Amino acid sequence: MNRSDLSAYLVQKRTVIETALLKIMETFMPEKTRLKEAMMYSLMAGGKRMRPVLCIAAAESVGGTQDHAMAAACAVEMVHTYSLVHDDLPAMDDDALRRGKPTCHVVFGEATAILAGDALLTLAFEILSSEGPYRIRNIQKIPEAVRILARAAGPGGMIQGQMEDMAAEGVFLDLDALRHLHALKTGALIEASVELGAVLGRGSAGQVARLKAFATNIGLAFQVIDDILNVEGDPKIMGKAAGTDLLKKKSTYPSLLGVDSSRTYAARCIDSALQVLSGFDNKADPLRAMAAYILERKR
Ligand code: IPE
Ligand code: IPE
Ligand code: MG
Ligand code: MG
Repeated sequence: MNRSDLSAYLVQKRTVIETALLKIMETFMPEKTRLKEAMMYSLMAGGKRMRPVLCIAAAESVGGTQDHAMAAACAVEMVHTYSLVHDDLPAMDDDALRRGKPTCHVVFGEATAILAGDALLTLAFEILSSEGPYRIRNIQKIPEAVRILARAAGPGGMIQGQMEDMAAEGVFLDLDALRHLHALKTGALIEASVELGAVLGRGSAGQVARLKAFATNIGLAFQVIDDILNVEGDPKIMGKAAGTDLLKKKSTYPSLLGVDSSRTYAARCIDSALQVLSGFDNKADPLRAMAAYILERKR
């Protein structure tokens, strides 16, 4: 799959994901409320949709379809969006720009932003576990799907990662400690996205295990590139501020290794990820192309 095939694939998947997100919001929150407005503001602000696309691509890589994965893809994007809304709050990173727009709390106030985040998180689990336009059809898989997402989003994953991230401000972390922090903060949800797709697409245990290893590697590369973009990225393209890691005295890959070695490190992670996929046929090509895209991304 070349670059233009990937672009077409991403456009097509983003379109179906955004249609599904809109339909889900209309179904589960039919009334026009301020809470819904705040949720929609952040959810539809123009994220890259990398996690839901990975979820669908993982399902397809094991012979499943996008319909098998759509509920999980939307749930993952809701959890991710909630994490950004809370991450940007004054009590956390205190950021004013996200996805190219003023952050949720800047527009709606802190209290509403907190509640909009809470609502996106809880709605994600409602979508996974209830009837609706994009329900999980294989109902035996629902408890496992709920467990995978809860585990990744909660104290065993992203939330603990956020705690460690805050504690690490102004503190020197070595590479192992940084890798551990990133695996929780960013890696867990990326891994869950891929695992959910693989499980709901009816992958075998062996396929699921390999896809998880793929996701661990691309998740790490994703965060290393995020750190590099924070040093030399263009805020207008990224839709969020640059230079903030240095200001907050965060240990990052570039601060430990320098930008060039960090890029080499990320490329090695992507190589490992591709290696893990070697036994998969061409149905895994979108996953392969996305791994390459993670390395080249500018936003
Ligand atoms: C941003 O994630 C936060 C990190 C975990 C680094 P993305 O770069 O996927 O953000 P969106 O969804 O495209 O806005
Ligand atoms: C984003 O993390 C939030 C989570 C991963 C939960 P960061 O604070 O590192 O990323 P940006 O720079 O705000 O996107
Ligand atoms: Mg943060
Ligand atoms: Mg932040």
